[in-house]
Amino acid sequence: MTVSQQQTYKYDQVSRYINHLIEKGDLRPGDKAPSLRKLSKQLGVSIATVSQSYVNLEDQGVLTARPQSGFYVNARVEQISDISSSSAKPGQPRRVRFGGLFEEVFRNANNPRLAPFGTSNPSMDFMPVKSLTRATRSIISRHPQKSMDYLFPPGDSKLRKQIAERYALTNTRVNAKDIIITSGATEALSISLRTVARRGDIIAVESPTYFAVLRMIEQMGMLAVEIETDPVTGLDLEALEEAFDTMDIKAVLASPNTSNPLGSQMPEDKKRALVNLLAERDIPLIEDDVYGSVYFSERPPRPAKSYDLNDIVLSCSSFSKTLAPGHRVGWVVAGRYHNKFLQYKQAWSSATSSISQLAIAEFLSSGQYDRHLVRLRIAMREQVEKGRYLIARSFPEGTRVSNPPGGSVLWVEMPSDCDSIDIFNRALEHNIAITPGILFSATRRYRNFLRINCGFPWNDANVEALGKLGKIVSGCKGG
Ligand SMILES: Cc1ncc(COP(=O)(O)O)c(C=O)c1O
Repeated sequence: MTVSQQQTYKYDQVSRYINHLIEKGDLRPGDKAPSLRKLSKQLGVSIATVSQSYVNLEDQGVLTARPQSGFYVNARVEQISDISSSSAKPGQPRRVRFGGLFEEVFRNANNPRLAPFGTSNPSMDFMPVKSLTRATRSIISRHPQKSMDYLFPPGDSKLRKQIAERYALTNTRVNAKDIIITSGATEALSISLRTVARRGDIIAVESPTYFAVLRMIEQMGMLAVEIETDPVTGLDLEALEEAFDTMDIKAVLASPNTSNPLGSQMPEDKKRALVNLLAERDIPLIEDDVYGSVYFSERPPRPAKSYDLNDIVLSCSSFSKTLAPGHRVGWVVAGRYHNKFLQYKQAWSSATSSISQLAIAEFLSSGQYDRHLVRLRIAMREQVEKGRYLIARSFPEGTRVSNPPGGSVLWVEMPSDCDSIDIFNRALEHNIAITPGILFSATRRYRNFLRINCGFPWNDANVEALGKLGKIVSGCKGG
């Protein structure tokens, strides 16, 4: 046996031992795995071997590392590793047609009478509502006139400076003058689309993709071409290149960091490769980075903007997933499209709420935002882990679920005979809101998928509702 074979054998020995404990039920979801020291003594291998084996188990979705705490057992569900292809032919641009389904899902997502699995944000229970209220009051009393007056694009200079400083945390060079404040990420994305493309143009998107993006493309009379996307590493760059070779794609719209609903995240070198590929072809990237700050790893992922030497990336984000969606404060760093974006913003929406901009700037500059984000990331990681566990407990055999690196949503593949519209309607009858998978594509390829938000506290009512949903899904087989 060579040295490296011996090493592999030792890793396997540790992994097999941990898997055995999990199978026997001695280690349950949420339990802490034995410490490196303890296991190294017990199995007679080095601490480095146990550590490497734990990292491998983490890659396989069996364990999760928590900083300064150790490794914990994940819920036992298969990670989505291969989304089966469907009747849709990838690479064909399509008109998006949702009819009334979009409105119906939207109407129910935020209905307080329903179990709240239909949105995609952390709930206000996890937000610093009191301290943000204090900051808002303080701004109004100190600057009453400025708070009520117009604050024209590009927006409040103090807020733009704060946002620019946050980009430095990921080694991304952005100046305050590069930033334009918008009404949420929605406006940043929609104006970006209009800035780089026109009616009839083809936009490449991830598959599956955030349904509101498809809705925007539909409303603007553009066409969507859905590019294969790996559930772990994001957009398939070969498929993207092939699409570039066969059709005239005007822009790519994607979420390199924690996509919604899939929960993929491009490794850093893949983000760089994506930006380089687009730069070679002179095609803009509209980056949706709303979950960029809600990550579960120790280090923040970098936005694709970080690698943008040619200024072709329009990077869009907001405070909706991290602070207060109701404030409707987002932004874009639009690169070479800055001036055109600014003109469109002025023409179509004039200013963004002054009170909201000033309050958030005040909150950020107080240092409270960073402390809040640390707590929010820990909370969302636990929420999502618990959600995976609850799904594993109550959904039928054959269910597969994502293992996202951030955010708050899970992408759930049900057995193939389940229809997400059917499940959506039956769940509504039981006062449960979910998002049917069919909305995340212009084709019907995600007919048997659901998106479930785990951003609300797992109180008894929500745990019970998810259990009920599992029963509904179990009942769809053959029915
Ligand atoms: C992926 C994604 N992009 C954009 C948005 C829109 O964000 P905002 O509320 O800031 O407009 C959302 C909100 O749900 C989202 O999930």
